[in-house]
Amino acid sequence: MTDVLPIPVIAIDGPSASGKGTVAALVAQALGFHYLDSGAIYRVAAYAAQRGEVSLEDEAALAELALHLQLRFTGGEVILDGEPVGDAIRSEAAGRAASRIAALPALRLALLERQRAFRLAPGLVADGRDMGSVVFPDARLKVFLTASAEERAQRRYKQLIEKGLDANLAPLLQDLRERDARDVARSAAPLQQTADAVLLDTTGLNIQQAVQQVLVWYSQASKTV
Ligand code: CDP
Repeated sequence: MTDVLPIPVIAIDGPSASGKGTVAALVAQALGFHYLDSGAIYRVAAYAAQRGEVSLEDEAALAELALHLQLRFTGGEVILDGEPVGDAIRSEAAGRAASRIAALPALRLALLERQRAFRLAPGLVADGRDMGSVVFPDARLKVFLTASAEERAQRRYKQLIEKGLDANLAPLLQDLRERDARDVARSAAPLQQTADAVLLDTTGLNIQQAVQQVLVWYSQASKTV
């Protein structure tokens, strides 16, 4: 009898605005894999809490809310309780709220199985902070994708300006540094490069070069299974 191989996962973790979402989505597209934007789930949980007037400090209530979120991803849109919330959860304020509740262990646990359910054939590319360390520890390839804080702030600045929004570089850089510090210092699933993850520093790389590198590593990792 032959062993059945587990559905392959590529875990891409890294700090805010490192470009991991864009890279992960393009890698998924190139391979015909599913894509999980785990940050969007934290953002939706924070948004639903604020809308339902649940305190961002009430860990038990947030975990309960997270277990029962009526959440779907369809054709690039995020649907909560039947309503598209993609724009609402992408604001800087929603990102800050997500980063606060993401420090709560009971909330993270409540979201664990929901994230694992995205592991469907033929494969999954998942991006976040703890995809390789907690959610998919048996991922075939683990990438820690980063860039200098200055470059990440520049990228976010460009994104906001392109969307026609007001932006200032200095507060963006400050906010990124605070979010990095919170993600790294928390005790529940801190942002970290695990020993089995490969480092992809995208400072000075464009998106295509980053995508290409991940595809090369994935093809190499697939030869050894
Ligand atoms: O990258 P960015 O900070 O813009 O946002 P995101 O990836 O959408 O994630 C929003 C927040 O959720 C992050 O600041 C993290 O604190 C948290 N998060 C997490 O703790 N674990 C994940 N797997 C994904 C996101």
